Amino acid sequence: MVDTINKKITMKEIANLSGVSTATVSKILSKKDQFISETTRNKVLQIVNENNYVANKIASSMVTKKTYSIGLIIPDITNEFFTKLSRGVEDFANEKGYNVILCNTDNNGDKAFDYLKMLEEKMVDGILLASDYNSSNGSRNVNVPIVAIDRDVFGLGIEKSVGINNINGGYEATEYLISRGCKKILHLTGDLKYTPTNDRIKGYKSALENNNISFDENLVITGDFTIECGYTGVKKVIDNKINFDSVFCGNDLIAVGVIKALQEENIKIPEDISVVGFDDVFLASLITPPLTTIQQPMYKIGYEGAKALINILEDNEFKNEKVELNTKLIIRNSTK
Ligand code: RIB
Repeated sequence: MVDTINKKITMKEIANLSGVSTATVSKILSKKDQFISETTRNKVLQIVNENNYVANKIASSMVTKKTYSIGLIIPDITNEFFTKLSRGVEDFANEKGYNVILCNTDNNGDKAFDYLKMLEEKMVDGILLASDYNSSNGSRNVNVPIVAIDRDVFGLGIEKSVGINNINGGYEATEYLISRGCKKILHLTGDLKYTPTNDRIKGYKSALENNNISFDENLVITGDFTIECGYTGVKKVIDNKINFDSVFCGNDLIAVGVIKALQEENIKIPEDISVVGFDDVFLASLITPPLTTIQQPMYKIGYEGAKALINILEDNEFKNEKVELNTKLIIRNSTK
């Protein structure tokens, strides 16, 4: 036992006490020990625990130039979409021995810019950006690999992204409403600064065109991905006496606000108005009526995003590509 009252035991001392090399200790502590025997692993971990060893990450990063940490920047920690996405990131990162520094921007591009700077200063090995940074927030040469997840990001030279095909998602939601006999489809969108918003609008317009329904700009209300936006947006349309028979909502939170507002107006769903959301968060199946929506693989977007980044960090591959995962129409009771 090394005196631990005032002296921090080093990795070298752990290795000596265990009768192995420091490289072996390092592999065991960073969970890259698949070729090390169970006996050796248990012996080293026992000595680590007995001596209250804490890896000196700063010292090791000076040598390896790696901190085995990645940054994840998300725009809204309160939205289940990003909660599940973050869980997917964390699970893959931890499988590979990486820690995750989670940053929430509250949909503020300037905050995203500041977080990029902070993460570089903390010497993360790479960054996953699911937020709203754009070049208007200031140009910045970020010196670590970045992968965009869920949405495209401009102004950072990002060449790899993981998400879904939002044009197809918007098309499928709109076409389903048309197949149910809807012709006056109101679209309440998320914030136009996000590529998913604009791509869903493209899908909405394409479905109308392919079904010979003329586009009416009064039926597209832009806002943001919140319950409040859905509630006030549809109330404004009703107050302005704009006629509609259904609503395609930019995400499920908007749909929750729309349903609340319609029910306050004694409008029946789906008998009078059909409603479709996007994401398929847990709330979508809980509300009354349960929501028809476009399901996104939220967890998988995060998991695959972390995989894409860590593959770059470990030189396994670097292909400039958009990875598009599949969505699925989930039919429930909010559509006729
Ligand atoms: O609910 C949040 C929305 O923002 C999701 O649709 C996701 O795609 C993100 O862009």
